[in-house]
Amino acid sequence: MKPFVKWFGGKTDKAEAAQGLDSDNIPSHVAVIMDGNGRWAQKRGLPRIAGHHSGMKNVKKITMAANDIGVRVLTMYAFSTENWKRPKEEVEYLMKLPLEFFPKEIDELVANNVQIRMTGWSQDLPDYTLKAVQDAIDRTKNNDGLILNFALNYGSRKEMLAGVQQLVKDAQAGKIRPEDISESMFSSYLLTDPLPDPDLLIRTSGELRISNFMLWQLAYSELWFTDLCWPEFNELHFYEAIQEYQRRARRYGGL
Ligand code: FPP
Repeated sequence: MKPFVKWFGGKTDKAEAAQGLDSDNIPSHVAVIMDGNGRWAQKRGLPRIAGHHSGMKNVKKITMAANDIGVRVLTMYAFSTENWKRPKEEVEYLMKLPLEFFPKEIDELVANNVQIRMTGWSQDLPDYTLKAVQDAIDRTKNNDGLILNFALNYGSRKEMLAGVQQLVKDAQAGKIRPEDISESMFSSYLLTDPLPDPDLLIRTSGELRISNFMLWQLAYSELWFTDLCWPEFNELHFYEAIQEYQRRARRYGGL
């Protein structure tokens, strides 16, 4: 495998970087915590929302990079159940991003056979946000290429509690027996069902935490962190993360 470090500083392009990867060991599901939009903007004397706008553009770039190497599912953490606590203007801006993103990008996503999905509580989203996302989901539902999954109004503890509540109801109704509850059955009660667990989690901006993201699903995922803020994270960085993933030995608790 070629050393990535030589490729930075404009020495090479993303196609060459992609070719350096082991095509037999591409993570099926990559999940991304896109952090650092606000800091990226503030460092440049821009309002925080400018960082979110730049971050939105990066979603498309990294989606294409993932598609080019054969990643099957790319989950992007776009809005957490905790993000409602932010100032109203920022929340509104974030909720309007899908109205810009999908009309602008949908043709190219369709041309690339990308399927859009959403993981999160759709009923709490403003109607206009939900409509923009739902239109994209409907338009791409028959595509069978990369699944671009937006975690939108998603929080893992809430997801697990809702799953447990439904399990208990189904047990009380006699549909399942408590002793039959397995890991795979529990997974099927989560919002991410039927997606596979992430193989690789990427978090930008230097924060070393999971922030209530896919706590159950990340049990055996490889974690990769970078100090770069999300808007400055590019295809080469993405491939660098994949290369590091390919160097790791996944033992799932075994030897
Ligand atoms: C975290 O950075 C980022 C978010 C809360 C929003 C992420 C959303 C996008 C990148 C756009 C998503 C696109 C679509 C189409 C839905 P932060 O604001 O917490 O950064 P900070 O930690 O530097 O303040």
